[in-house]
Amino acid sequence: MGSTNEKNNNSLIPDKKYKKTEKKAPKGFDSPNDFFEHVFNDKEMIWMGQNTNHLHGDEINSSMIKCVKSKEYCKYPPPEGFSKLKKLVLKDLALENLDIILTAGGTESLYLCMQDLLTKEDNVITCDPGYLIIGSFASRFAKEVKYVPIYNEECNYKLTPELVKENMDENTKMIILIDPLNPLGTSYTEEEIKEFAKIAIENDIYLLHDITYRDFAKEHSLVAKYAPENTVTVYSFSKIYGMAGLRIGGVISTKPMIDSIKNVVVNDLGVNVIAQIAAISALESKDSWISRIKNTTFNNQKLIKETIDEIDDVFLPVYPSEANMIVIDLSKVGINPKDMAEYLLDKKVFTREGNYTSKLFGDKYLRVSFSIPTEEVKVFCDEFKKAVDVLKP
Ligand SMILES: Cc1ncc(COP(=O)(O)O)c(C=O)c1O
Repeated sequence: MGSTNEKNNNSLIPDKKYKKTEKKAPKGFDSPNDFFEHVFNDKEMIWMGQNTNHLHGDEINSSMIKCVKSKEYCKYPPPEGFSKLKKLVLKDLALENLDIILTAGGTESLYLCMQDLLTKEDNVITCDPGYLIIGSFASRFAKEVKYVPIYNEECNYKLTPELVKENMDENTKMIILIDPLNPLGTSYTEEEIKEFAKIAIENDIYLLHDITYRDFAKEHSLVAKYAPENTVTVYSFSKIYGMAGLRIGGVISTKPMIDSIKNVVVNDLGVNVIAQIAAISALESKDSWISRIKNTTFNNQKLIKETIDEIDDVFLPVYPSEANMIVIDLSKVGINPKDMAEYLLDKKVFTREGNYTSKLFGDKYLRVSFSIPTEEVKVFCDEFKKAVDVLKP
């Protein structure tokens, strides 16, 4: 259950409603927020810790500048989003027969789906490693969230249809597919996607398909194509579009499902106007930049692979990654990922230790993202090699 019995002495402060893993402040900082503010403000920091994309030119930001100058942001947007943007997202996915609601990032969409679709009788299946906040949102509304361990070769480091079937019971109501997966970069074949669709239809359950990293993959299939009535597809402008700080995303499903999700909406006055204008120009200009960004990202990944191959006992469990991030396993060489992340931060390279994306295997790996300029990836490669020499026992 999501609730906790933690009591407060002050009768005006409510007891905490949800059991959330306490975020610890990194060494030298009073709170996680202080840490993030520090790295955010450090203009020299190489940004490999948040799977964000730093490879865009001015195709997107010029539309925002125009919007700012016009002071259009003084007005509220239409509460459910600009219809032009909604049509563009559906066209991008070739799901024009479905509906969409825009939200402040994919994060808000994930929350709305959990709130609307789950009840206290339901079980949810997801995986570890994974993007943990999704399971955490689910646990606020469901009875149980099962984290299936997938950090092994037998399942190819992903939640397979077989693993889902093994872990289902009569209360299973939702399967969460993060595809490509944060942090490992594994993705699904069309056959596997069809198999998931079949499981969802036969068992009358929901499939939440988080496609935040879709456009980095060589190929990608949508469950919504095969099981539209069962699927909610969560879309983000934070990664391929390089717009994480603008906080815009959405959820796509059938019209009745979107109508139902609208019932739990919090952001009743709509999504940031400037972010929506940027999203429109991002989609309209996509053909002009997507290949360049994908190629640079993939070549950066190759450089990391070449570096890792030169180092004994450090390995990449999944290569190539279908996302803009990769997991580097440090367990064989005996380095604590936290020590590695701290060492690199000191060299102005921001990466993420495993426990950010895994409760079970977080002490084994470091996650690095690489949709950044190639010169910066080279700095990482040099510093990482030195770090292994310094830190290995
Ligand atoms: C799998 C996954 N889903 C959703 C999000 C959140 O995306 P947004 O910035 O659109 O809220 C992230 C962010 O890293 C993610 O990794």
